[in-house]
Amino acid sequence: MSAATWIVTGGSGFIGSAFVRLARARGWARIVNLDALTYAGNQENLAGLAGDPGYEFVHGDICDAPLVASLVAVHRPAAIVNFAAETHVDRSIHDAAPFLRTNILGAQTLLDAACAHVRGLDASGRAAFRFLHVSTDEVYGTLGPDAPPFRETTPYAPNSPYAASKAAADHLVRAAHHTHGLPTLVTNCSNNYGPCQFPEKLIPLVICNAREGKPLPVYGDGMQVRDWLHVDDHCEALARVIAAARPGASYNIGGGSERTNIHVVRAICRILDELEPAPAPRERLITYVTDRPGHDRRYAIDAAKIREDLGWSPRITFEEGIRATVAWYLANPGWVERVRSGAYRDWLVTNYAHRQEVAP
Ligand code: NAD
Ligand code: DAU
Repeated sequence: MSAATWIVTGGSGFIGSAFVRLARARGWARIVNLDALTYAGNQENLAGLAGDPGYEFVHGDICDAPLVASLVAVHRPAAIVNFAAETHVDRSIHDAAPFLRTNILGAQTLLDAACAHVRGLDASGRAAFRFLHVSTDEVYGTLGPDAPPFRETTPYAPNSPYAASKAAADHLVRAAHHTHGLPTLVTNCSNNYGPCQFPEKLIPLVICNAREGKPLPVYGDGMQVRDWLHVDDHCEALARVIAAARPGASYNIGGGSERTNIHVVRAICRILDELEPAPAPRERLITYVTDRPGHDRRYAIDAAKIREDLGWSPRITFEEGIRATVAWYLANPGWVERVRSGAYRDWLVTNYAHRQEVAP
């Protein structure tokens, strides 16, 4: 059990909470979780840590510089791991402002506090400190069907306001390393799935709608490709990066599991039909709707660098992981019910009411 403290931001969201649960289960570090509890943050995700003396929750905003500075001064973390972000591409298309604020200004606020912290450390503390910024493969833009997957050297070409805000933050992290010598790390990961993902994203949305006999909205022709990775594999990769990566490095993380959206939706329908039989196959609920503006056609990750440098590769196949994820949502109807608040229902109207049914 490590005695070090890590400040984790956004630890009440989907990936952050998986990371915090694993960090405590494996004794990676004592965790201080700074989370603003936006619509995507859910304290229930970490209810299992109640009473754990190695876990502390702080309700606050990463843009709040005095708060962030005081947390760093009090806890003297060995690492800061930044998950906090606005994360849904469709929401960024409707309103980019919260994305610019949290994803860019919030990231810079954390970097400023980290730089001040590191300046006050002795040589060994400075050498050991890490600032890990958790980013996305969407910064690289979109791939053609036969193009090679994204490498760490692929030029940035973000296409959505979300992706552009994440790209901006990645550049600020790079600048903090180059200018101030901050020991930074950046990871660019592909699409995650698993327990506790907010049901605005494709996989949990489809599981929840299919279970209730509601339409399954597939954007455009459903032939867009994502490279799916189970969230626990992502978190293991992040731990490897903190433990062993060279400061200033960036790593792509992916599942090597490219699937079209329509394949994913059909797979969920089949698993649900098997685990919870319905009067008719759920595939009948598939509804092709107006595409996402600027929709990236394909993402794929070349994970050779993290595999070769750090010995990480994914352990959970898409087929195992998606089955376990469907089973988790079936076993946790209370969690689903509670996150689908009034604000969630408003979002469904904002994002789906204007979409026409289209031919695939
Ligand atoms: P999420 O939307 O489920 O959770 C985001 C968390 O950040 C929530 O707990 C929210 O309350 C918190 N938050 C938002 N604004 C905040 C602020 N100003 N201050 C403090 N906390 C704030 O997100 P996720 O899917 O878990 O993604 C986590 C990180 O991983 C993000 O940075 C995202 O860009 C990145 N990422 C996600 C994926 C994916 O497939 N979900 C893939 C690659 C990278
Ligand atoms: O690639 C990593 C990214 O993956 C992360 O950085 C983002 O935070 C995360 O949200 C995710 O982005 P996507 O846009 O790929 O995820 P989403 O679940 O929103 O959509 C997955 C695919 O499914 C995408 O091609 C759009 C499509 N889709 C999505 C929804 C919500 C549909 O066809 N219908 C839908 O209703």
